[in-house]
Amino acid sequence: MSEMIRLLVADDDINYREELRRAFQNHPSVRVTGLAQSGRDALNLARDGAPDAALVDLGLVDMSGLEAAEQIAKVSPGTAVFIVTDAPSMELYRRATALGVRQVFTKSMGTADMAAHIEQEVESIRDQMRRKAEELPLAPPGSGPFRKNVLHAPKRLQTVKKVTIGVLSPKGGVGKTTTAVNMAAAAAAQADLGVRVCLVDLNEFGCVTMQLNLGSPERALDGDPLAARNILNWQYIEGNPSREELEEFLVRHPDGIWVIPTVPAPEKIVEVSQQLIRKVLDILRHHFDLIIIDLPPSITLDVSWSTAELVDYLFVVVTADVQVIPGMSQLNKILSMLNCETKCYRLVNKYNEPEALSMTELDKCVPYPNLGKFPEDPGVRKACKQGRPYVLVKPDSEYARSIRAVLNQVFPVFAGEHPKRGFAVKRLFGFLGGGRGV
Ligand SMILES: Nc1ncnc2c1ncn2[C@@H]1O[C@H](COP(=O)(O)OP(=O)(O)OP(=O)(O)O)[C@@H](O)[C@H]1O
Ligand SMILES: [Mg+2]
Repeated sequence: MSEMIRLLVADDDINYREELRRAFQNHPSVRVTGLAQSGRDALNLARDGAPDAALVDLGLVDMSGLEAAEQIAKVSPGTAVFIVTDAPSMELYRRATALGVRQVFTKSMGTADMAAHIEQEVESIRDQMRRKAEELPLAPPGSGPFRKNVLHAPKRLQTVKKVTIGVLSPKGGVGKTTTAVNMAAAAAAQADLGVRVCLVDLNEFGCVTMQLNLGSPERALDGDPLAARNILNWQYIEGNPSREELEEFLVRHPDGIWVIPTVPAPEKIVEVSQQLIRKVLDILRHHFDLIIIDLPPSITLDVSWSTAELVDYLFVVVTADVQVIPGMSQLNKILSMLNCETKCYRLVNKYNEPEALSMTELDKCVPYPNLGKFPEDPGVRKACKQGRPYVLVKPDSEYARSIRAVLNQVFPVFAGEHPKRGFAVKRLFGFLGGGRGV
């Protein structure tokens, strides 16, 4: 095996977890990189880390191992899932494999045997992914569909139309929220143009409000502005609210971004129907020029594909690393089923990390026109922690310039990037908005 296999172990018995971790400590090809004591922990780790393999105990505390295995396959389709039990049976094997589980192991099985099975299954998944990546069409060349228009600064009214962007990714932790927050902050900073920006958090483990230092939706108590204003409260809005009425349902960030926080508990994400998303977007389009929606890393969640159908653009954020490949084939398949491919654009985050995939390699597995790339910058991470978008902390950084350049291709409001057009845009917004302030 060329690369080390990263193994997630989910078992409520701490002794068994530790025993496996120790057993694989010096193994030449398998390493335990995640330990989960519940099904929910396992799902979070699988979603964020996209491990190569997962060993899931049949009897977890909060859900059955089969249920966890099925969910893991959804949030991390490139992970080979194995069930571990004291009492294997043909019936269990049949049910497990029907859910996509690769093998059922007995707890007494030796590590060498286990490792051999794991290696074989992981290698077969990797092969399958490589073949799929090779079959995908190449992305069209060029760095974005609107570059030509933008450079020639169209001066007609519709050039700065209202824009709705969904931000998604094939796996967790690639920088969706960071990108969404920074794009929103950069656009909102154009307040003198009257640009109004709304950032909607539809990731059930949402971090938008955290990255903006507005608090955690999960910890919001009654009376807290986040509790009263999260997305679920929008179902109580009737008719066409006035701007003042609407502001009661939004959280305002001091840098001028209006935010709709995510659901107050992850399991409530199922309550966010396409009907609700449509209603929210219809209302927002009356009051905002730019709407950015931060989505979960899994396209299989209803909320992701429902939003994908309703937005003008889908920004697929990836890091330049092989870990994005397994999730991409599923993402591509679903986006093509939804006929959404033509509104998809690729953004490459941390393109300059060591051992990064080249743009040509990314063209194969993320076959959408490339709108831009962002450098890895420790300042970005620090700014996230401090709750202040990096584009505002360091507007002259390469990161900030790239964020503005990307956004300018679909929502051209940055005079600095294209001086002539900026002037035209300013007049245009003044005319449209009558001096609206954010
Ligand atoms: N260009 C960058 N340079 C340095 N750090 C970055 C960069 N982009 C993102 N990060 C850091 O990477 C981490 C993950 O980013 P972020 O939370 O935006 O990812 P995500 O895709 O939204 O994750 P999730 O799937 O959990 O929602 C954060 O700590 C963030 O600060
Ligand atoms: Mg996020």
